[in-house]
Amino acid sequence: MIKTRITEKFGIKYPIISAPMGPFYTTRLAVATSEAGGLGVLSHVTLRGVNSIKDFKAQLEYVVEHTDKPFGFNVRTARVQGDHKILLRKIPEWRNKDPRLKEQLIYGLTSAGSPRKAGAMWKQKAPDMYHFHVGPALWLVDKIVESKCDGIVATGIEGGGHQSYENISTLVLTQQVARKYPEKLLVSCGGYASPEGMAAGLAMGADAVAMGTRFIASKQSEFHENYKALIPPATARDTILTTGGFGPIRLLKNKYALEHGEVVSKSEKIQQELGYSMDGFLEDLHHYEIVYTEGDVEDGAIPIGQTAGLIDDILDVDDIITSFTKEAEKIFKDICSHIS
Ligand SMILES: Cc1cc2nc3c(=O)[nH]c(=O)nc-3n(C[C@H](O)[C@H](O)[C@H](O)COP(=O)(O)O)c2cc1C
Repeated sequence: MIKTRITEKFGIKYPIISAPMGPFYTTRLAVATSEAGGLGVLSHVTLRGVNSIKDFKAQLEYVVEHTDKPFGFNVRTARVQGDHKILLRKIPEWRNKDPRLKEQLIYGLTSAGSPRKAGAMWKQKAPDMYHFHVGPALWLVDKIVESKCDGIVATGIEGGGHQSYENISTLVLTQQVARKYPEKLLVSCGGYASPEGMAAGLAMGADAVAMGTRFIASKQSEFHENYKALIPPATARDTILTTGGFGPIRLLKNKYALEHGEVVSKSEKIQQELGYSMDGFLEDLHHYEIVYTEGDVEDGAIPIGQTAGLIDDILDVDDIITSFTKEAEKIFKDICSHIS
């Protein structure tokens, strides 16, 4: 049995977390992950026609109806994410009113913006909920630590979906954060899709690893079958960083990604965002919706990580979590048996 600070504090069996993957739903995936002994995480869903506030509450209710295990959620606190302030306020209110949520909703992950507002609010309204923030580079992790978050999700450039302009690998970043902030809870994310990777992440000092693409390619994830089917044949070379809503985004190289444009610099991107019209925003979102609802994998945006190169099959969430942990344990034992 691998025990870490996170398995102990969160009361979970295995040090594996499902990464949030908005604007898509990961509700059933979160249930399956938590039921299997990992920590399932709800995504910040912003598909068109969805009232994200009501929808978030419905997702929380769905999870507590379907599992009695701990779980978490993500709120993207980016400038352009219009609903985030309401969510930061509402979630602890809902949690305080529902005893099941109070007990089970133990992990709030903010990303894509600042952790400060959430930190200040949640420390007051939900002091027993662990607040983590995504950090893509050590200097940004310094700011997360200043804002008194309980933990860090160190996410490197090889991961799927939105990325920062920092270009730091998970391998380097995880070691840097573990070395500089040994007292902080640490999740390592981006590039994990194998037991070997999981063992390496824990060996570097992570208390858990988080995986996105590996869980998309699972039987329980609610991603379109056409999307899932692209992952096993994809290689590590089949992704590209293009310009996304909050900065660079790693997508599968398809028609949309290749036509969508190169990553522009951070200052150009900020200028772009300041002039962002609702039409532009909705047009962008349309490419995510057509993947989700119609399975259009040519004109649709398909965020996946370089981990696609490690994934050969669509697996059951339970198998992913238990087999990865068992094999990671074996790797540790085998290494130790070679030390005389
Ligand atoms: C489809 C997709 C959507 C994502 N959306 C979000 C999001 O809404 N918020 C967030 O913090 N990270 C998001 N990410 C990043 C993941 O949380 C995580 O960092 C990434 O999946 C790790 O890389 P991996 O996919 O290789 O495991 C997304 C990733 C994917 C693949």
